Amino acid sequence: MTDAGTSAPHAAPPGCPAHAGAVRLAGLEYQQTPSQLYRTLRREHGSVAPVLLDGDIPAWLVLGYSEVSYVTGHDELFARDSRRWNQWENIASDWPLLPFVGYQPSVLFTEGAEHRRRAGVITEALSGVDQFELARECEQIADRLITSFAGSGQTELMSAYAHALPMRAAVQMCGMPHTGTDTQRLVDDLRISLDAAEGDDPVAAYGRVGERIQQLVKDKREKPGPDVTSRMLQHPAGLTDEEVVQDLISVIAAAQQPTANWICNTLRLLLTDERFALNVSGGRLSVGEALNEVLWLDTPTQNFIGRWAVRDTQLGGRQIRAGDCLVLGLAAANTDPQIWPDGHVGSENAAHLSFSNGEHRCPYPAPLLADVIARTAVETLLERLPDLVLAVDPEELTWRPSIWMRGLTSLPVRFTPVVQ
Ligand code: HEM
Repeated sequence: MTDAGTSAPHAAPPGCPAHAGAVRLAGLEYQQTPSQLYRTLRREHGSVAPVLLDGDIPAWLVLGYSEVSYVTGHDELFARDSRRWNQWENIASDWPLLPFVGYQPSVLFTEGAEHRRRAGVITEALSGVDQFELARECEQIADRLITSFAGSGQTELMSAYAHALPMRAAVQMCGMPHTGTDTQRLVDDLRISLDAAEGDDPVAAYGRVGERIQQLVKDKREKPGPDVTSRMLQHPAGLTDEEVVQDLISVIAAAQQPTANWICNTLRLLLTDERFALNVSGGRLSVGEALNEVLWLDTPTQNFIGRWAVRDTQLGGRQIRAGDCLVLGLAAANTDPQIWPDGHVGSENAAHLSFSNGEHRCPYPAPLLADVIARTAVETLLERLPDLVLAVDPEELTWRPSIWMRGLTSLPVRFTPVVQ
């Protein structure tokens, strides 16, 4: 990855005057303090800033709340099919952002009536999930995970809990038999496809995810069950197996990664901010309030790539060319001073853009299911280990070097060992 951040040298791709002063949106330094970078970009460029993605590929970061709402609400101008991009000739086949930016025949990249067909199937399949049953299953998954480390008095919560729990919940919802190593491999491959570390191959990792889901679809064709996969296969819209595979990858990746980071960012807030009492007694702010505050201030999907301009147009005073890529700056939009003029970012309502907006927004009822998973994960952990504390100084916590996700690399904690 390129190095970057608030102190990154400004660089413009050759021959692109619109990208004069563009800032690299990558690298560790950027990740530690993205809100500072958004403030600087807003000051220097307004609500739509020229940025460079990995490999110095130019794009626009949409930072304004009303601009993100406008872009996501106008598919006829800013569409989802990434084959429109005017930069493909500059993209290498091992470009790290390829797995979720390169076109796939999945719900993510479909448009218009075809998108409504595919998203409709997902909504109906997810609507069949009983939320009380899901909460009960998540509690059992949480209990098993906690039992595996409770006796030791310490653990690293990202790998031992925050990533594992939503993946097991998603896998169970989709009717995939859970085996420890198999599920862990899926977690690892999804993480690699979103933010590959040195030596990782994100394209190969994404391929392995596809193979695993292909097997699941084949199994469910032969032996359907009361699960999301079977409901998608049986839906009267008549999706092909390949379409179901593609859309299930989107469902599972979308469920696991952001929900894991929602859990960890909420735990970090609870463990580091004295407004939140860990044992939730004493009338302090609640887990529900912490979950909501995270969606405003530390949202898991901090940026989403993206939308592609259908024709030449303007946005935030910028000249956007047909085929330009727009990155939805969801974290920046949530903290836009235009909607918080007194500088205080409130957490009382749910008008944030963390689940995006418009036709491609996180489909109903996925945000509700994510809330059940995240809330159960946090509450069960705090109930079982009530004296949980951070095992390092809060300043020592580091963030993943991912443009998409805001989540910690690790969350070491201590607690009184539980004798089982
Ligand atoms: C059970 C958990 C979840 C499921 C099953 C799920 C499912 C999905 C699916 C299928 C899409 C693709 C929609 C489309 O292109 O039409 C999507 C998009 C998205 N989801 Fe979720 N999701 C979950 C949790 C979350 C969480 C926790 C967040 C963040 C707080 C989130 C944020 C988003 C965002 C930002 C998009 C992109 C929308 C866009 O292109 O504008 N999702 N989700």
